[in-house]
Amino acid sequence: MIKGVKIRFEIHNILFSIYKFNKTLNNSSIKKQINKQKKEDISLLYNVTLNSMRLHLHCSKIINKFIKKKIRDQEKILLISAITQIVFLNFKEYAVINCSVEIAKKLKLYPGLINATLKKIAKNKYDLKQIQINFRDLPLWFQKKAGFLSDFDKKQFLKRFHKEPNIHIVFKDKEKLKKFEDKLFKTSIISGFLLNEKNFQNTDSFIEGDWWVQDFSSFLPLYNFKKIGKSKIFLDACAAPGGKSFQMLSKNLKVVLNDKNKDRIQTLKTNLKRLNLNAQILNEDFIEFDNKRKYDVIVIDAPCSAVGTIRRNPEIFFKNKEPNFKELLSLQENMLEKASILLNKNGFIIYMTCSFLKIETIDQVKKFIKQNDNFLVSDFEIEEKKIEYSKLIKNNFMITIPNIIFNYNIDGYFAAFLKKIK
Ligand SMILES: C[S@@+](CC[C@H](N)C(=O)[O-])C[C@H]1O[C@@H](n2cnc3c(N)ncnc32)[C@H](O)[C@@H]1O
Repeated sequence: MIKGVKIRFEIHNILFSIYKFNKTLNNSSIKKQINKQKKEDISLLYNVTLNSMRLHLHCSKIINKFIKKKIRDQEKILLISAITQIVFLNFKEYAVINCSVEIAKKLKLYPGLINATLKKIAKNKYDLKQIQINFRDLPLWFQKKAGFLSDFDKKQFLKRFHKEPNIHIVFKDKEKLKKFEDKLFKTSIISGFLLNEKNFQNTDSFIEGDWWVQDFSSFLPLYNFKKIGKSKIFLDACAAPGGKSFQMLSKNLKVVLNDKNKDRIQTLKTNLKRLNLNAQILNEDFIEFDNKRKYDVIVIDAPCSAVGTIRRNPEIFFKNKEPNFKELLSLQENMLEKASILLNKNGFIIYMTCSFLKIETIDQVKKFIKQNDNFLVSDFEIEEKKIEYSKLIKNNFMITIPNIIFNYNIDGYFAAFLKKIK
């Protein structure tokens, strides 16, 4: 067998099951399949799979330039992953073409078509690398839901949604950051972007639990939340895998952690163990919580379309099915309503989503405030007086599309502090 065919065949099968059967790379059956691969092949697999999904719209545009007739899904997926490797990842084209032709034969596709198309594409690869995506090339559901974005924001999004994310890390305290053994671009006294992203899980400070990975945008809201005393009781209603919980526990706050998903609770527990943090953990449906339970702060990091994390979860645009907005919007609404019942007077709901779509964010909050006149949107004060940070706050909402800060990629995110005044 030609070298590289086996792992590329695995990549093809994974991409196909994500596309066709709406799976994600985190899906347990896919993870099992990945873990069966040779150690040295796993980083190639992630590199090609993630980038094929991130760049599939670019690749589809390239395919349309060279093939005018309708092709089968399998052929399209095979071409997308080959074009990603040749045009965008600069892999040796003959190896990629030979492997793709072998896979086409195995799958009883049309190897002649794959061979001829990829050869033409390889000849023009430097020009094709410049191919641009327009807003109307994005999935239709997204065009509709994100139509409210200004032209400027649409341009920013198009420029950045397919880039590789940067790794932002958060320390338990400022002393731990001072002791950090590697290079960091600091974003606060306890956080920063890793300058050396390779094998960060092997550093002593990671193994000893000094820090965790958390995107800058999702870190900022709780970093800036200082409105309530330490004696108060916090609930992280949707806690797993744990970023927000770690932030609160590191401040020695009294936090109860909850998540409905059993597997994600396991990941949360593993993370807490590495970080040497302890908390009461519940594995319940938040909507079914006993109304007699009372809290002073309820963090709702709500289930959402996750479009803000499109760089890390490129499946969102790649799968042929759109997120189930009907279900998500109703769950978000019910979570806000439930929190309003469980919250003590003068307490806060911190409503967050890794989405920037109006329907999941500002509209949800406005609707909630309209129906609950005992709540108001509280000030979003920024701890670090940096202009780059205050730009993320509009009308006391933090809202960001996948963008850059100090030239590092950050996720799209939303946060609002809702205060119960009576
Ligand atoms: C955006 S994630 C939370 C991320 C987490 N806060 C963090 O910082 O790592 C949303 C979580 O909500 C959980 N979830 C979904 N429906 C729920 C429900 N009805 N009750 C409690 N948790 C739920 C999901 O299992 C998922 O882990």
